[in-house]
Amino acid sequence: MAAKNEGRPARVGLDVPEGVRHFATNRDREILAAIDETGNAVAAAQKLGMAHQNVYRALANLRTRAERAGWREEGELPVRPGEKRAEGGRVVPLSEDERKFHEDWGPAECIAELRRIAEIDPDKVISRNYFRVHSDISESTWNRYFGTFHEFKRQAGIVLSRHAHRLERSIAKHASVDILKGFNDQKRQYAGRYLKAAGKHQTILAASDIHDEECDPFFRRLFLEAARRAQPDRIVLGGDIYDLPEFGKYGVDPREWNPVRRIRWVLAFIADLRAAAPNAQIDLVEGNHEYRLLRHLSEATPALKVVLSDLHGMTIPGLLGLDAYEVNYIAPADLRAFSERDIQREVSQNFLLIEDALLCHHFPKGREMGVPGWNGHHHRHLVWTQYSPTFGAFEWHQLGCGHVRRASYTDGRFWTNGFLIAHLNTATKRSTFEYVEIGDHAVLGGEFYERRPDEWPGPEAHVHRKEQPDA
Ligand SMILES: [Fe+2]
Ligand SMILES: [Fe+2]
Repeated sequence: MAAKNEGRPARVGLDVPEGVRHFATNRDREILAAIDETGNAVAAAQKLGMAHQNVYRALANLRTRAERAGWREEGELPVRPGEKRAEGGRVVPLSEDERKFHEDWGPAECIAELRRIAEIDPDKVISRNYFRVHSDISESTWNRYFGTFHEFKRQAGIVLSRHAHRLERSIAKHASVDILKGFNDQKRQYAGRYLKAAGKHQTILAASDIHDEECDPFFRRLFLEAARRAQPDRIVLGGDIYDLPEFGKYGVDPREWNPVRRIRWVLAFIADLRAAAPNAQIDLVEGNHEYRLLRHLSEATPALKVVLSDLHGMTIPGLLGLDAYEVNYIAPADLRAFSERDIQREVSQNFLLIEDALLCHHFPKGREMGVPGWNGHHHRHLVWTQYSPTFGAFEWHQLGCGHVRRASYTDGRFWTNGFLIAHLNTATKRSTFEYVEIGDHAVLGGEFYERRPDEWPGPEAHVHRKEQPDA
């Protein structure tokens, strides 16, 4: 303090210790000099041509800044839990081991803590440092059990699978954003290209998860029969018309490698459907298997190059028969997703809203949208009754699949086969559902159909995957 100030009691708030002055800005320094010279805030403010309240405010801010940076006044501000006073009076955090070591924690408690941190921000990739800063436990608490942080994350189930990791790496390395953007633009043009359905009463024939060659032959026959007999206004294919395990995460025996045959199967199926119901509007909602196919197409993976050379440069409309059979493709999902989680989020945007009264979603999250309708993906028929003020009491169906249930690599016995016929009154927005279950027999529009001997799927076509596929 300047000599003029000596002998007077320090005015509260005006006494600024040396340690705090260290953090002063140029403006603060001017204020401090004026205070030292005049001895009070009003005079200092007058000298500087400012309001005296702002002098106090500037000093308070300065003190806060200093405290945030670790300054503490001896004897005045306590050392808080988790801190200690270092030499020179600075208050610093205790070392992490002193603060957060939990002797009594086992692996389960450590994993619970890691998951707690991961759930706070699900989009955050948890690094070792992020966890150190945000968790309540020390490194030595968990690394007794897991060794490396990667192993710790893996055991907590929050690390990407090896496949996901590889996918991310390969996309980061190879994906040409321009190509993917071009694909987005191309596929999105097909959302409403071939509109046909109209009229007050509409009949909608819906199936999901046909999975190309894996399709049950009896299902295929009955679905086409339904199209022929009902002459629906719309046919809605709810995703996963393709299976194409060649592009999946599970190994395919190269002897089973035949994506071209599968593509031809899908095109023949759509051709048969179009022939069965020439005037129907056909809508195909992109499922995770289609999304995956297009990603491979855009990245021109070795697998796809084989296919393309065989099929002479197939395009998106070509692979899905969009122009040939007048099919709409509902696929707002952005192909430029980077992580597995992003992909899930993107594919979840692929849904079809019909006349603001019926919803087709590939994933079960469609059920949360408050509209009558159906989802696929789980290959198992379930029905929920729901209520909304708009639609009254209504049904939501999770459809059985077209995929054959006899598959050696999966618990296909728990799947069900079936499709849905919905009847919508567009004036009242109310709808009724007829679900057609496909078993050894099926009943369609009051007629009884039996599975023929040649429609028992042979086991030999279904041995190529070792693990559970994604639905
Ligand atoms: Fe699916
Ligand atoms: Fe599926």
